Amino acid sequence: MSVHSHAQRVTVPQLMACKGVSKIAALTAYIAPIARLLDEALDMILVGDSTAMVGYGLPDTLSITSQTMAAHAAAVVRATHHACVIVDMPFGSYQQSPAQAFASAAGMLAASGVSGVKLEGGRAMAETTRFLVERGIPVLAHVGLMPQYVNTMGGFKAQGMSEAAGRRILEDARAHAEAGAFGVVLEGISEPLAREITAAIGIPTIGIGASPHCDGQILVTEDILGLSGDRIPKFARRFADAGALIRAAAEQYAKEVREGTFPSLDHCFGVRQL
Ligand code: KIV
Repeated sequence: MSVHSHAQRVTVPQLMACKGVSKIAALTAYIAPIARLLDEALDMILVGDSTAMVGYGLPDTLSITSQTMAAHAAAVVRATHHACVIVDMPFGSYQQSPAQAFASAAGMLAASGVSGVKLEGGRAMAETTRFLVERGIPVLAHVGLMPQYVNTMGGFKAQGMSEAAGRRILEDARAHAEAGAFGVVLEGISEPLAREITAAIGIPTIGIGASPHCDGQILVTEDILGLSGDRIPKFARRFADAGALIRAAAEQYAKEVREGTFPSLDHCFGVRQL
């Protein structure tokens, strides 16, 4: 249950204060109608670059631009009043230098009104986290399975399965916590490792394919609504079958159009009774 009042938008400090107190419930949203429906139930909405794959049918997240992400983020902010909205920094918009990251993130905040940004990367990106946080931009780090590293990982695979690889992910999360990140997404890592990281760092961990013992959970909304086709990732569950409802509505609409029962005169302007 959320500790937050619904009177105003959840803030980044309020999310940080959830650690050890209440679980953070988060989902992705890319467009206004979905964001509007999710808003009051959630503590945080992520405008994820997963929209590249889920919304645009691309094979990975690498080609989505800052302009596109900012447009989605602005739509989600306009449609919501409760959840804290965070946007993903797209690939190539922040890795070059902390200064590049600041310019990109500041542009994203100005264009959309989000409360912070998420960036992927291990210890090497902690300097960038510090640079942004010290200049007023809250950062949610993302370690473990990092989709923007699909080419170096050789696919979308669970990470940190050996003792040594697990240590490296723990150090990645710790480095971002020490750099001032307000939270860290743990994606696609073993359950014991996610539990260990959650106990080891002072900021909330938000799991996806990680552990129920994380401080919060995030999933791609389409995966829980039956809008991702037949494929449900191992770490998700279908909480509703909106896909079946939409398909049935489209079939009924098409049937009535073909039969001539929709539209009726009730749906027309300037009707003159014959
Ligand atoms: O892009 C995304 O949607 C994400 C979450 C699933 C964590 O990074």
